[in-house]
Amino acid sequence: MIKAIRGMRDLLPPETRRWQFVEEVARKVFDLYGYREIRLPLVERTELFARSIGEDTDIVAKEMYTFGDRKGESLTLRPEATASVLRAVLEHGLEKGTAVKKYYTLGPMFRYERPQKGRYRQFYQINCEAYGVDAPELDTEVILLLLDILERVRLNEKRLLINSLGCPECQKKFKAALGLFLINRVGLCEDCQRRRTTNPLRVLDCKSTGCREILKDAPVIRDYLCPDCAAHFSRVLELLSRAGVAYEVQPRLVRGLDYYTRTAFEVVAAGLGAQDAVAGGGRYNGLARDLGGPELPAIGFAIGEDRLLEVLPQDLGQNQDTRIFLAALGVAARNRAFALLQELRRQGLAAEMDFAERSLKAQMSLADRLGATVAVILGDRELETGQAQVRRMATGEQVQVPLAELAARLAPPA
Ligand code: HAM
Repeated sequence: MIKAIRGMRDLLPPETRRWQFVEEVARKVFDLYGYREIRLPLVERTELFARSIGEDTDIVAKEMYTFGDRKGESLTLRPEATASVLRAVLEHGLEKGTAVKKYYTLGPMFRYERPQKGRYRQFYQINCEAYGVDAPELDTEVILLLLDILERVRLNEKRLLINSLGCPECQKKFKAALGLFLINRVGLCEDCQRRRTTNPLRVLDCKSTGCREILKDAPVIRDYLCPDCAAHFSRVLELLSRAGVAYEVQPRLVRGLDYYTRTAFEVVAAGLGAQDAVAGGGRYNGLARDLGGPELPAIGFAIGEDRLLEVLPQDLGQNQDTRIFLAALGVAARNRAFALLQELRRQGLAAEMDFAERSLKAQMSLADRLGATVAVILGDRELETGQAQVRRMATGEQVQVPLAELAARLAPPA
């Protein structure tokens, strides 16, 4: 038998219902904040990701699914959506005008990472991006939007970690100081020995224990922020406090992608083990320029849906609606039931019946397995009297309902 690829899973019902619930909530919240959906290709030119995410990041250096197409062009399955959304925005001139431009997108991302709990090679993100304004109010609003989604899906135990990565000027000074600090340290991993000269910020994101130990005494970027970046960060924190949001400033939070400037944040959740970030994001004011576009302030985040679903309650999105099973006995009743089935569905009621001429007992057990809340029993006698037996599956309570009134009587109270 051919099996699914390592790190790539099938999402099956009833689990998919939980995913739908989360996505429905996200769409609803995005709408409340003025975001509109954008749908993008899963494949882009490799160069787009290499230039945006950074050649020296783990994602670009080790984790991309890159292949040549039949003409030899290097293409990559998207490892994230930010670069693609910005590519599309610039390509279609969506950045023009003075208002904040707000887009969201949902879908799979691909990274060749070592699979483990909460880490897959095909995983799903709920992605949010806003363009055009560098105001700290927007940073805070984006974070509030993220928390709004997480609260509505009942993610209770979570922490918001936040830092400022400054502008390119701050980063230049900080990288120099960090590089200097790292230059004579022994015990850095092989990657970090290289990164300390090529891109010392990446060392801050290294997970190896040796590097972490060394970094305990490293300088922190907050001490290198220019007055504008420092004021921006203070204002974001002030607005978060005013909104009643608890946050933890993490002076060494840098994120795994190179494009961030100023505000960067993550939300971590309890119960996930090592892969505990359920969402991450931040500002990336320089990326549009780097991709050959105009000056375009930008900020966004992505929720990792796989991880989020891992910690959300099992009963999430349980459908409370009426589900009807028509149990019919005999040819005439089955014919009547088949017509009734469509009638009920037209009225917006979920309805099913058995097509295998099973016994009443077998049909009732099928109704149970299908999750029916109500069974309607139809036989010759019911057809004669025009009254069906309606049984509440949960209680076994049974009443007679005139066939003509079935849909009206079974519809949930408005
Ligand atoms: P990221 O931190 O690389 O950021 O990914 C965001 C979230 O995606 C992570 O917090 C995690 O929940 C989930 N995730 C990442 N890799 C995996 C994996 N292998 N398996 C399961 N879940 C995973 C970004 O991707 C940025 N584009 C976010 C962003 C949007 N920044 C600005 N706008």
